[in-house]
Amino acid sequence: MASCRPCPFLKHTPPAQATLQETADRGILQLMSRSLLPEAVERYVAQESARETAVQRRLRAETARMPHGVMQIGADQGALLALLARLVGARRAIEIGTFTGYSALAVASALPADGKLICCDVSEQWTNVARRYWQEAGLADRIELRLAPATDTLAALLKDGGAETFDLAFIDADKSNYDAYYEACLKLIRPGGAIVLDNMLWSGKVADSAVHDEDTDALRALNAKIRDDGRVDACLLTVGDGVMLARKR
Ligand SMILES: C[S@@+](CC[C@H](N)C(=O)[O-])C[C@H]1O[C@@H](n2cnc3c(N)ncnc32)[C@H](O)[C@@H]1O
Repeated sequence: MASCRPCPFLKHTPPAQATLQETADRGILQLMSRSLLPEAVERYVAQESARETAVQRRLRAETARMPHGVMQIGADQGALLALLARLVGARRAIEIGTFTGYSALAVASALPADGKLICCDVSEQWTNVARRYWQEAGLADRIELRLAPATDTLAALLKDGGAETFDLAFIDADKSNYDAYYEACLKLIRPGGAIVLDNMLWSGKVADSAVHDEDTDALRALNAKIRDDGRVDACLLTVGDGVMLARKR
């Protein structure tokens, strides 16, 4: 099965004494497929319709054997990200939540040779896998990995004059911080650029008003906020676990 997967969910900014990997490990929820499609249709979309390079296929296979391998995005989502990068003519992009590097590989491959993708993650262990495949794909020089809580990295980018210098952002990390990531990315993205948010259907839980937990409530509130947000044009795509696509006005 290969479609949008859940990620490790950090509930809070990590305490100073925790290592970054401890931060990544803490709060990992039960992993399961979150695609709302019947399994056969999900498999068809991901395996029969999406184009993958040989390096992407190898990375998918290696990641699938890892304990939390189901967290990587599907091939169809990778194709969507690369397409979006090309559609907005992206030269500079940000990713929040890198894991073993599949989505970064997809986005970086769609950037020009002098383009740059800033990747935010807290796990050295998982991103070491990513680095190997970025090298193998010849894309390592387009990708800058920053190992720190993403809120810190985004704040640093803004402090360093990054406002409105990015073309594309992909948000795929801890759900309770999604609103903060969205707000920071809105500042970093230029008008006409795009913000892409994964897992916005949350296995359909956002549509069930009886379900209330920190992550579901956060995502449901953010879907409503983006719907009413005059700063963007947006659409919630029923790809994988729900991909919110927002274009900054
Ligand atoms: C679902 S995975 C990302 C999957 C990835 N986009 C892919 O295509 O394979 C979520 C990632 O977010 C990272 N993460 C979780 N909390 C974070 C935080 N506060 N700051 C930065 N990264 C975080 C985790 O370490 C994990 O690698």
